[in-house]
Amino acid sequence: MSRLRAAKGMNDILPEEVGRWHRLEATYRETMRRYGIREIRTPYVEPTSLFVRTIGEATDVVEKEMYSFTHHSEPLTLRPEATAGAARAYVEHQVHAKEPISKWWYLGPMFRAERTQRGRYRQFYQAGVEIYGDPGPGSDAELIDLLVTFFHALGIRDLDVLVNSIGGPETRVAYKAALVAHLEPRKAELSADSQRRLETNPLRILDSKDPRDQEAVASAPALGDFLTDADREHFASLQRYLTALGTPFRIEPRLVRGLDYYTRTLFEIQGAKEKLGAGSTLVGGGRYDGMIAELGGPSVPAVGFAAGVERLLIATEAAEDAPAVDVYVAPLGAAAIEQALVLGRDLRSAGIAVEVDARGGSLKSQLRRADALRCAIALVLGDAEIAAGVVQAKALAEHAQENVQRTDVVAWIRARVPDRSAGR
Ligand code: HAM
Repeated sequence: MSRLRAAKGMNDILPEEVGRWHRLEATYRETMRRYGIREIRTPYVEPTSLFVRTIGEATDVVEKEMYSFTHHSEPLTLRPEATAGAARAYVEHQVHAKEPISKWWYLGPMFRAERTQRGRYRQFYQAGVEIYGDPGPGSDAELIDLLVTFFHALGIRDLDVLVNSIGGPETRVAYKAALVAHLEPRKAELSADSQRRLETNPLRILDSKDPRDQEAVASAPALGDFLTDADREHFASLQRYLTALGTPFRIEPRLVRGLDYYTRTLFEIQGAKEKLGAGSTLVGGGRYDGMIAELGGPSVPAVGFAAGVERLLIATEAAEDAPAVDVYVAPLGAAAIEQALVLGRDLRSAGIAVEVDARGGSLKSQLRRADALRCAIALVLGDAEIAAGVVQAKALAEHAQENVQRTDVVAWIRARVPDRSAGR
């Protein structure tokens, strides 16, 4: 019988990796708390038409990447992203009538049937924020600044913050016409994909990586020239706010992004290029002022982002992860085992991660096991220690040892290993 494997592009997260996820999630939650952003959880499955209407029929996501199925004649799709679902929930629960501004965050799995590579999977996790009710650009600037702060807290530096404005729907219509007029005579020189996009979604040709497309696009009219005065003022204010916040950014006039719902502000943050290569886009986001009305709600502006959690974890990959436990309790002899169980329990209730070797065994074999677990400390308990009310405490890396009073053990450990109770 052939051995079963996980579906392509879908990953197990094993216990030894889960600590890094917990730490990232804890940092994200703490960032959200500081900004007063509240969590929303929406279904993993939504009506297919939700994504077709918001993300757009002619996008890669809707055309090629959705996991769609029909259940009792209801067309359903595993969510490829969470912006559309959150907006549906916003409209469905008439949230606009309860508060003028809503700020929501989420962290969970998304599904896209993409070609897989390092940092690109078919089930992947996004950490995102959506803000409803502020036409901006203060919220836009604050989100970008929040991301830079979050990345610094994770230890990710060397970031490339790219921003652009694509204006409102009128700008898009006018610009699309001009772009098609420019590219139509050069159609034969375009890649096959872009020849097709010329009919379906010409804006996407702008960020094609194909050199043939890039050459044709180089001489195309600039989107920026088509912005209305109001769009221009919005974009100028965003830049002013980012400068005031000290957030470095770069204007990228060809940034268009792959989802149809965006209006005005677009941004991406790239980083860890040496680890992620072409997949170094850590975050995508922007404004989508038309979506709430499009879904049958009132005219409420919105802006948000989503960061790829696996990509952040790759970016923060350190040489070695923290060990699972810091302290190894080694009892010598039958009488010591019960004392070791009590000591282990007491240390754990003080927040320390402990392995008690309840099998007993020789000191040598127990210390070998402590080494294999990369414990910083071993606590040896034999008859003599029990009689004296002490433990023999060994700092393994330093090859140092001393007898420590049972009542002082927690303080002795705390002085030697970091407190990891925020997440392991
Ligand atoms: P997106 O650009 O499609 O935007 O995805 C955002 C981020 O999710 C990407 O920058 C990347 O880090 C991660 N990501 C996307 N696809 C994959 C994949 N196959 N494997 C691993 N990571 C991936 C959105 O999803 C929008 N909903 C963002 C948004 C929120 N805009 C406004 N609000």
